[in-house]
Amino acid sequence: MSDRKPLIAGNWKMNLDHQQGIALVQKLAWTLKDVNHDFDLVEVAVFPPFTDLRSVQTLIDADKLPLVLGAQDLSKYDSGAYTGEISGAFLKKLDVRYVLVGHSERRQHHHEDDELIQAKVASAFKHNLIPVICVGETLEELESEGAAAVPIRQLSKALAEHKEIGEFVVAYEPVWAIGTGKVATSEQAADVAKKLRETIRELVSEEVAAATRILYGGSVKSANVAGFLVSDEVDGVLVGGASLDVEEFTGICRFQKHVTL
Ligand code: 13P
Repeated sequence: MSDRKPLIAGNWKMNLDHQQGIALVQKLAWTLKDVNHDFDLVEVAVFPPFTDLRSVQTLIDADKLPLVLGAQDLSKYDSGAYTGEISGAFLKKLDVRYVLVGHSERRQHHHEDDELIQAKVASAFKHNLIPVICVGETLEELESEGAAAVPIRQLSKALAEHKEIGEFVVAYEPVWAIGTGKVATSEQAADVAKKLRETIRELVSEEVAAATRILYGGSVKSANVAGFLVSDEVDGVLVGGASLDVEEFTGICRFQKHVTL
């Protein structure tokens, strides 16, 4: 086992209004407490839509819940005439710790390119947020270039040209595995994670490579999570659909119950 703390991250995507979000977080906190989840050993974060963040933050704060808050995106700008954009400064003010950057759904539906993603990573560092840099190949890219080439290219661009590199997390999410029920094999996920770590070693440093958590995402369920986390290379999971179901997500948080080391 590596000494990196596993991170279980639930990306709600565009699901749950703020009232539904509060209900889910309350139930999740009770359920994890009931099963004596040790948050010092396995970190659990939720990534609600922007409109839920204030409500969820207030709940976490008032009830002193050990859950961590993440956001799904941020602007590359700090403030100004950018209608519809959300500044990293606003997220920080809401005790947001993590922010997804470059999720494949943003790359695909909002045409986010590597340059914009690099600027968003810079903005996250600037506002003391931890970017969760999402990388992954499409089915066509998998067939033409293999599994690791595109994720390595995307990560290299996201990490290029920063004056200072703060803490970050990488999420390897093969596009063909998102919401499809198709999953990468645990060997594929571990192999790409290992190559991404080598990329960090080359681009940043040995120390940062050793400390950075690399997650797998794409159709993760309580029934398959353990397979991904047996490898020392994979330090957690980024969960979409299954994070909306408290029992499923709790099962994922308790992956160590299924991992036989
Ligand atoms: P699913 O778990 O629904 O496949 O989504 C994965 C994902 O995109 C998480 O960011």
